[in-house]
Amino acid sequence: MSEATPKFKITIDGHTVEVDPGTTILNAARLLGGDSVPPAMCYYTSLKGSGGKCRTCLVEVSKGSEKDPRPMPKLVASCSTTVMDGMEIKNKSSQRVLDARSGVVEMLLINHPLDCPICDQAGECHLQDLAYEHGKSNTRYEFERRTFEKLDIGEYIKLHMTRCILCYRCVYTANQLTDKREHGVLKRGDAAEIGTFIENNLTNDFIGNVIDVCPVGALTDKTFRFRSRVWYTKPMDVHRDCPTCSGKAVAWMIGDEVARVTARKDQFGEVKEFICNDCRFHKKEKSDWTIEGPRHIDRTSVISANHYELEIPKHTPLLNKA
Ligand code: SF4
Ligand code: FES
Repeated sequence: MSEATPKFKITIDGHTVEVDPGTTILNAARLLGGDSVPPAMCYYTSLKGSGGKCRTCLVEVSKGSEKDPRPMPKLVASCSTTVMDGMEIKNKSSQRVLDARSGVVEMLLINHPLDCPICDQAGECHLQDLAYEHGKSNTRYEFERRTFEKLDIGEYIKLHMTRCILCYRCVYTANQLTDKREHGVLKRGDAAEIGTFIENNLTNDFIGNVIDVCPVGALTDKTFRFRSRVWYTKPMDVHRDCPTCSGKAVAWMIGDEVARVTARKDQFGEVKEFICNDCRFHKKEKSDWTIEGPRHIDRTSVISANHYELEIPKHTPLLNKA
């Protein structure tokens, strides 16, 4: 019988967890959950090569390991730094981390417009949540901002490049999930942008998933745009017999109408099983789906704010009437 690999014991903000060697700090923190988990805008568990680009997941390593307890001099990206036995990490308990995070948010917001009131991603946007927690009320930036025309990239997807934070998730999704990637990051440095060469259309079977992985409102679903604020819809777990994907999805309902269909996401905002374009864009009748019941939204975000799962308290007659 082979011996089990010894686990590494690490501490994050005073909470201890044992993980396999090779685990990243971010994934170890996700095992602990709650406030120990750093935010992540570009890392995506199921996408190879993701992470290491946005710097929102920076943490402080105050003790390197049991063998070499020296602290790491600089903050490290938790999504791409693996743990060592005895490592001690500070996330929310470090003022350096909080300052760095607010600096990263300030930088991401240099070009990103604060158009949450009209953005379809509002309520589900990771940058909105970050700005809410770490953002400053004014900007120090004095130069002209980057602006772009809104682009139709394909039949179903709209690109607002002005909102893009260049996390590369959509590029990895197209590369790893579809047969043919037709878009990518063009140009470099502050000229870099997501684009399709010679205005190619994105038509691959699974391309709709770029909408779900985009952490901001840069890629939106043309079949749902401007139909409703997402918190006015009722998300339901649904499934259907689909020859192309698992057919497990979330139908966001307005009354009896299926307003949009997305894949199911976990508490870290990551899709568990990617769905095909047919389920996402063409199955908009209630009769297309078997309804399992209301979806529980784990993520703390504006979307959870209306507590649609909770019973309406009896002493609010106006709400009960509706
Ligand atoms: S469009 Fe969205 S997913 Fe693609 S790089 Fe920009 S922010 Fe990331
Ligand atoms: S999530 Fe770690 S750098 Fe973006």
